[in-house]
Amino acid sequence: MSFFQFTPAFANPQGSPIRELFPYLSRPGMVSLAGGYPSPSLFDQEGLAAAAAQAMTTGATALQYGATEGSPALREQLAAQCQARGIRCSAADMLVTTGSQQGFDLLLRVLIQPGDAVCVETPAYPATIAALRQAGAQILSTPVDGDGLDVEALAAMLAALPVAERPKLLYTVPNFSNPCGTLLVQARRERLVQLALEYGFVVVEDDPYGELAFTDARPAPVYAAAQQQVGEGENPVVYLSSLSKTVAPGLRVGWMVADPAVLRRCTVAKQTNDLCTSPLAQAVAASYLQSGRYPQAVAKACAEYQRRMLALTQGLKARLGDLVQFVQPAGGMFVWMTFDARIDPQKLFDAAVAANVLFVPGKAFYADNAQLHSMRLSFAAPDVAQIEQAVDRLTEAFHKAS
Ligand SMILES: Cc1ncc(COP(=O)(O)O)c(C=O)c1O
Repeated sequence: MSFFQFTPAFANPQGSPIRELFPYLSRPGMVSLAGGYPSPSLFDQEGLAAAAAQAMTTGATALQYGATEGSPALREQLAAQCQARGIRCSAADMLVTTGSQQGFDLLLRVLIQPGDAVCVETPAYPATIAALRQAGAQILSTPVDGDGLDVEALAAMLAALPVAERPKLLYTVPNFSNPCGTLLVQARRERLVQLALEYGFVVVEDDPYGELAFTDARPAPVYAAAQQQVGEGENPVVYLSSLSKTVAPGLRVGWMVADPAVLRRCTVAKQTNDLCTSPLAQAVAASYLQSGRYPQAVAKACAEYQRRMLALTQGLKARLGDLVQFVQPAGGMFVWMTFDARIDPQKLFDAAVAANVLFVPGKAFYADNAQLHSMRLSFAAPDVAQIEQAVDRLTEAFHKAS
């Protein structure tokens, strides 16, 4: 027996299923479609270097502890971003977080007790599943289709649940989701808010990818749809976003927009978590957003990611035909692909690794490892030439495993 008496959530910890693929990445010549990393070639290094130099001219402020809510300059900039996305808000409505990942963790601390039910769009971002397991939540998987979360399936599930078993929270990534790459259509955004109000659950709208749109056809956030419905009343939606996918994940800057009662409690929870998000990183982020370089950098990233997405999806369709099914994403970094049930998923994964191409097996995105004949492919990090190579190698793997 161990000297250490770990809590139930950490008695038998499972690491991230994606991080467990890391050893394969060091194989010479491996092309990875596995990670959710943005392309390093798209980091605006020049702009960020200038922002870092500027941040240091604020002297002691950037090197000192800061307010838990975040720096006033950054909160102003983030409020302007949210307004541009359609949210009615001011700097006072922003809580700066250490990545949007921390925002979700804080919410679980202030809202969820062990045994509470939480709906999760499924397939789901694996760190969300892991965070819910650590919180002792009971996970209720909610299906998605090509238009995002299936709100009518959700409505049917909610209607059938006894009152005591109703969820306290629902987690969704409405814009270019991880892992499916889908966009939640406007009518479903409105219906989701109605259901949240009717059944009394909080909607966590996680939106790190919304700015990476390949067209202009992106609806306003679910948070904004809720503002339309409740007016000045309590908004059942909590909005999380991040600079990780649009500027640089190394900054570890994300933010939360929520009802003041939620924001206040998350701020108190953050005080015992990290006191404040790095003031130096916040100063760099604020200075970068003030510099005016952000819109151009994002437009460049969107154009490049769209090129990479087309190379991947058109290549796979041309080579694999009906063996695979997917919805072509209109933004973001991911394609979700399902494949013929006669193909053995483990054989396919082994053949892909042998051919030097890596993907994340679909089971990583299910709380119960249920869906085996699927995979997530990320087109963000490899360039077009590497993606073409990856398509050749995946084709070879499919033929070996078929
Ligand atoms: C859906 C989703 N939410 C949150 C995160 C974490 O983002 P951050 O770097 O802001 O913590 C990711 C990163 O991959 C993600 O895909």
